[in-house]
Amino acid sequence: MKTITLVKYGEAKNAFEIRDIEIPSPGDDDVLIKVTSMGLNFADVVARRGLYPDAPKNPAVLGYDVAGIVEAVGSKVTHLNIGDRVTALTRFGGYAEYVKTSAFGVAKIPDQLSFEEATTLATQACTAYYCLCESINLNPNELVLIHAAAGGVGSIMTQIAKHKNCQVIGTGSTTKQDFMKANGVDFCIDYTKEKFDEAIISKYGKRPVDVIFDSIGGKTFKKGFKILKAGGKIISYGVAAQMNGSKSGKLKTISVALGFGFFSPLQMLMHSQAIIGVNMLRVADKKPLLFQKVLNEVVSFAEQKIIKPRVDKVFTVDAFANAHEYLESRKSIGKVVVNW
Ligand SMILES: NC(=O)c1ccc[n+]([C@@H]2O[C@H](COP(=O)([O-])OP(=O)(O)OC[C@H]3O[C@@H](n4cnc5c(N)ncnc54)[C@H](OP(=O)(O)O)[C@@H]3O)[C@@H](O)[C@H]2O)c1
Repeated sequence: MKTITLVKYGEAKNAFEIRDIEIPSPGDDDVLIKVTSMGLNFADVVARRGLYPDAPKNPAVLGYDVAGIVEAVGSKVTHLNIGDRVTALTRFGGYAEYVKTSAFGVAKIPDQLSFEEATTLATQACTAYYCLCESINLNPNELVLIHAAAGGVGSIMTQIAKHKNCQVIGTGSTTKQDFMKANGVDFCIDYTKEKFDEAIISKYGKRPVDVIFDSIGGKTFKKGFKILKAGGKIISYGVAAQMNGSKSGKLKTISVALGFGFFSPLQMLMHSQAIIGVNMLRVADKKPLLFQKVLNEVVSFAEQKIIKPRVDKVFTVDAFANAHEYLESRKSIGKVVVNW
């Protein structure tokens, strides 16, 4: 079978090679999927740049999520059958014609969902659902700030927050404002034109935000903390800031880490605030049954149209590098997909 293998860190056009390897055989708890659509995630871009510590070393087959058809199931798998249309978390290995993955990360998809739409579920929607529905309890009317609100995760976070009757503030670049509004964001901020913290204070007053979902990190996190209400929570689930500017390697890591600022438990206690970190790979590795529950909830939300996946562009495999470049360009709205 063909794989798209990362052979060199750096620019997408020089990074990947198509390589042939054996089709894997599923173990007792695994599922083998014939892949129709591969989802790209921002972490793939970070890994391709050599900045993602959890990624396997080169040559590596990246890829967190696929959609396709079940080709074979292990002897202990009871919830899936050959021929089922599924979405799956792959935790690497997803850029391939066939994928072997643990059954807990695989779910049947509703008939009305295309394979391309289904690629949004296993990573981005599960991350959104976990952040909004497992890591905290959102209450109606709470004021929620979502960074990168037009992105794969951010667009689904917005849909779930609106379903929970929250007021949503979203940040995004200029070309994404209309989409954010149409997707339910109540107060859209173009952070390329105004400072998000100042825009929020001028509209809502000092320290108005109940919950912040932060995928940017560094100074953005620190600024967010300064507008968090007493009793508020900040969920940190990404560090896109590490892609900023020209510094590289350890210097960049240190500069972004310092940008977050320093916090003491006493300060949290005094203001009844919480900082919560989310890493879905750890959840999948250490709490597979919880991950499976989240995936099933997400599929059910998609069935009920609470989650409405937004596929931006679908590329073919021969334009794989273009798909990566497009996601890295920060122009994408929703999901970027590559079809075999
Ligand atoms: N913790 C987890 O388990 C987990 C799981 C999935 C994803 N994530 C994280 O969630 C974030 C979103 O992932 P995604 O796959 O859905 O990507 P995405 O949001 O579709 O794409 C990333 C977007 O982030 C915005 N952004 C803001 N500042 C940026 C910066 N300094 N560098 C690059 N992009 C920046 C860009 O849009 P605008 O500039 O228009 O805002 C860009 O389009 C990523 O940070 C990712 O690592 C974490």
